[in-house]
Amino acid sequence: MNKQLLIVGNWKMHLTVHQSSLLVHRLQQHIKTHRDIEVVLAPSMLVLQPISVELDKRRFKLCAQDAYFKDEGGYTGEVSFAMLGDLVQYAIIGHSSRRLFFGETLDTVRDKVQASIRNDIMPIICVGETQQERDAHETRQVLHDQVTTALMNVTSKDIEKIVIAYEPLWAISAFNKNVTAKPEDAQKAISFIRQQVSELYGDRAAKHMRILYGGSVNEHDARSYLELPEVDGVLVGAASLNYLQFTGIVDAAHQIQTERKS
Ligand code: 13P
Repeated sequence: MNKQLLIVGNWKMHLTVHQSSLLVHRLQQHIKTHRDIEVVLAPSMLVLQPISVELDKRRFKLCAQDAYFKDEGGYTGEVSFAMLGDLVQYAIIGHSSRRLFFGETLDTVRDKVQASIRNDIMPIICVGETQQERDAHETRQVLHDQVTTALMNVTSKDIEKIVIAYEPLWAISAFNKNVTAKPEDAQKAISFIRQQVSELYGDRAAKHMRILYGGSVNEHDARSYLELPEVDGVLVGAASLNYLQFTGIVDAAHQIQTERKS
């Protein structure tokens, strides 16, 4: 089965509307259309609307970095998945920054996954262990708890819409500048996540699910993760803010797909 590789750029809390517009312009100039690759941009909430007007939607999809799980109500400062329904195809849920800095719990992530599905937005659920949990050999337990809770109310029909991203916190540039995960680490964790999905939804669902690697990835090492048999794409942070680096990652994905076909 040759799945489309999914390349997601998470811009986090970077770039003004103007800077984002410049980056989109550059990306549209440099990134070629490849049928076997899906390129998704996750700018700040403020930028989604203006960018949606400029974006060539045949080539790029939009993603929210987060949203609130209630559809509407007196929740000052929040934006709901319902409000984003016309703008984005994807939403990142449970990113490590949300879990660490904003106290997002397993239950909140579960509720957000439900809200996302309810509003026809495909969730990209982030899971991953901290350095401390890794040192204590708790990686499997953490991944198990995060995956099973996030999928708690997901039906076998809706499992097809779910994407999971494995983000080892100890390898994310915002937390740990000079450490990257070895491809074997990524492979092991992603394989374990797939096994969890298989236990819950069967082999077919597990095989079809797109599972991304979301630790630090750049244009030089993207290939080493993307060529792993169980890795279906990457969730990129810092390198997605630079059009040359992000284009390099998409090119690496395209090269792999071309080699797989030949
Ligand atoms: P970096 O690529 O900057 O390490 O960030 C990874 C990440 O958090 C993607 O969501």
